[in-house]
Amino acid sequence: MQLSEAVLGRRSIRKFKNKPVPEGDILEIIRLASHAPSAGNQQMWHFTVITGGEVKTSLASAINETFKEIAAEAGAEENRLEGPTRSATFFRNAPVLIAVSTSRYSTRVDETLLVAGRSQLEVDHLRCRPDLQSIGAVVQTLLLGAFEKGLGTCYMTGPMGARFRLEEMLDIKPPASLAAFVAMGYPDMEPGEKKVKDISQIVTFIR
Ligand SMILES: Cc1cc2nc3c(=O)[nH]c(=O)nc-3n(C[C@H](O)[C@H](O)[C@H](O)COP(=O)(O)O)c2cc1C
Repeated sequence: MQLSEAVLGRRSIRKFKNKPVPEGDILEIIRLASHAPSAGNQQMWHFTVITGGEVKTSLASAINETFKEIAAEAGAEENRLEGPTRSATFFRNAPVLIAVSTSRYSTRVDETLLVAGRSQLEVDHLRCRPDLQSIGAVVQTLLLGAFEKGLGTCYMTGPMGARFRLEEMLDIKPPASLAAFVAMGYPDMEPGEKKVKDISQIVTFIR
């Protein structure tokens, strides 16, 4: 398969056939993805592969409960986060859920900024979280590798609204932290048409 075919053909899939994905294929896809670029070549990612239905259901329930709590805390009506909850929990019907976690990337510049009195929040704001950017690179590579094998995927950060609870359930402890989910399985839907911004809207040359 040509790279452009995979890039143009990959779409977010949110409905999957009830058909298991061979573990060998999952490992092959993750092995391919692990060649993605990462800040300082730290490869600071970890993949927790969840195929058990019960665990997926518990994770989805935890998100559901957390979103209800958030709405209640905000004094909003109970169904305020119904849509976001749906897009954060559809993974419960995916044969495979991959939790992608990361560890912080700290350079001498970061350490010096902290010694100079900047808070971690200020350093993160300035330095643009290279660890999370590395997760973006590895996840996109994973999505393309899955597409090549006829699998559908969806990159998901919606569930991170319940991140602390999910980390506890998945035993992800500091210095690691959960960054994203990827739902995966054989597609059972045709994605609708997608509009891509015109090149003139997204490119500036400085000559
Ligand atoms: C960082 C990131 C987070 C996303 N989180 C979610 C999510 O939580 N739930 C969801 O249904 N889709 C999620 N998506 C999928 C986007 O909605 C989707 O990529 C976008 O609409 C473009 O469609 P396409 O993937 O089919 O090209 C996410 C995508 C990215 C890149």
